[in-house]
Amino acid sequence: MAESITITGTSKEEKYASLLPQIKALAEEPDLYAALGNIISALKYGMGFFWAGIYFVKEKVKSEKLKVGEQPELKIENSELVLGPFQGTVACTRIGFGKGVCGYAWKNKKTVIVDDVNTFEGHIACSSESKSEIVLPIVGKDGQVRMILDVDSDRFADFDATDEKALTEVVHIIESIVNS
Ligand code: SME
Repeated sequence: MAESITITGTSKEEKYASLLPQIKALAEEPDLYAALGNIISALKYGMGFFWAGIYFVKEKVKSEKLKVGEQPELKIENSELVLGPFQGTVACTRIGFGKGVCGYAWKNKKTVIVDDVNTFEGHIACSSESKSEIVLPIVGKDGQVRMILDVDSDRFADFDATDEKALTEVVHIIESIVNS
């Protein structure tokens, strides 16, 4: 496996075209956390984003209420997004169902592009430097959202159909690891 990422080209399309095969190669690492960590790093540094990261859908566990051997109920109301591998400034660790851009993408199971985070009602500001963002759901075999891919820019309206297409390919690469 390559130990560094090489980006060629000047346009966004050319940069993604050189990055995507390298992300595919990074996804061959069998350990999920190692693979995701490198994929996120490649995205952030390869494309020069302000922030890139994964949120996992996880059960809210109130450990004091659990007896030994008990499992939390597997219901959406009992789930939340919890910060996973990311690159960039410190971010909020937990996001509720339907909350913020990430929770909206989770609830509606669709990609969301926000040109100006100040205009998105309920946007969760992890950094005042973040100006626009794109959030994509990552879906499991059962059709449920399992993770969220969140990419932030420090420029307004920095994400367009080119980003959506390329990042959807990244999502499919991640889905292929999760669902294999
Ligand atoms: N802005 C996101 C929160 C995550 S941070 O941007 C890393 C949201 O509104 O869901």
